[in-house]
Amino acid sequence: MRATWQGKQVLVTGADGFIGSHLAEALVQAGAQVRALVQYNSFNSWGWLDQSTLAGQMDIVSGDIRDPFLCQTLCKDVDTVFHLAALIAIPYSYIAPGSYVDTNVTGTLNMVQAARDQNVRRFMHTSTSETYGTAQYVPIDEQHPMQPQSPYSASKIGADAMAMSYFLAFQTPVTIARPFNTYGPRQSARAVIPTIIGQIASGVSQIKLGDTSPTRDFNYVADTCQGMMALMESERTIGQTVNISSNYEVSVQDTLDLIKRLMKSDVEFVQDAQRLRPKDSEVFRLWGDNRKLIELTGYQPTTSLEQGLQQTIDWFSQPDNLKAYKTGIYNV
Ligand SMILES: NC(=O)c1ccc[n+]([C@@H]2O[C@H](COP(=O)([O-])OP(=O)(O)OC[C@H]3O[C@@H](n4cnc5c(N)ncnc54)[C@H](O)[C@@H]3O)[C@@H](O)[C@H]2O)c1
Repeated sequence: MRATWQGKQVLVTGADGFIGSHLAEALVQAGAQVRALVQYNSFNSWGWLDQSTLAGQMDIVSGDIRDPFLCQTLCKDVDTVFHLAALIAIPYSYIAPGSYVDTNVTGTLNMVQAARDQNVRRFMHTSTSETYGTAQYVPIDEQHPMQPQSPYSASKIGADAMAMSYFLAFQTPVTIARPFNTYGPRQSARAVIPTIIGQIASGVSQIKLGDTSPTRDFNYVADTCQGMMALMESERTIGQTVNISSNYEVSVQDTLDLIKRLMKSDVEFVQDAQRLRPKDSEVFRLWGDNRKLIELTGYQPTTSLEQGLQQTIDWFSQPDNLKAYKTGIYNV
């Protein structure tokens, strides 16, 4: 039987970000007491939680996972930790790789050590399909080899290993969620779907892009969040690494054509050398096998790509939302 969230004290790190803000909201709606970590900054910005109508029902804490003392305080009296805070942009990891190790590897170590010390009941660490690199076979299941094709991927492989070592060495109840490409309202502009939708919504006639031939397994953000919650509702996922994917492969080019059709746009796409990745760094094929998630939790994503894109387009088409994006520059 699945656990319920009513009255449970949960911690979400990265709650200021794209997926974390949606997850924190979903947990409030499910009845949990949510402690939401937002990254400390002197502007007192809470990221996307600044716009959330549910922020008033969260205990919002500003801090930084690179600080082990803060992580101990964060985990006090917490039942379940959802650890999402990370540096995630691949292009930025080419120029600032040290900060990826500090936040993703050391930050995860701080969090999992704190979870152990504070006797947290469940700990979910967030991995990424980027750890697999270009598919050696499809669909990619959890046995697929790791290939660090970017410093970002390498830092997540290190973070995953650190988290899992706590399960194996100390029985800390770690589960690794491995989402494939997630999209939806609030995604940062460095990713291809918000770049395209944001620019079309702001009326440009030409859009510069990197390589559009790679394929991806896109997941709507609400489905990724439900998948994470399902992982933490099942006792069978302790000590497991589990893909969260739609099991549907589509090329970036076909996704762009679908967006154009849904937005009734005749925008022109042109390739921009600045956006091309180094050849061996580009991940050409991602298609995630989600049978383990279904088998362990009974959960299966429900939003089709067309439905999810339409909801994303509706959100970006509201001027108040679009205002948060700098659509005229190359965002990394
Ligand atoms: N977006 C995707 O497609 C995708 C796919 C697979 C996995 N993931 C993983 O999901 C998680 C969330 O990603 P997202 O897309 O929401 O990214 P995001 O950048 O919107 O959110 C990450 C958040 O972490 C916070 N953060 C960064 N460094 C921090 C620090 N030192 N201390 C505290 N907070 C810090 C940032 O403020 C940011 O809001 C990440 O772990 C990412 O690797 C994302």
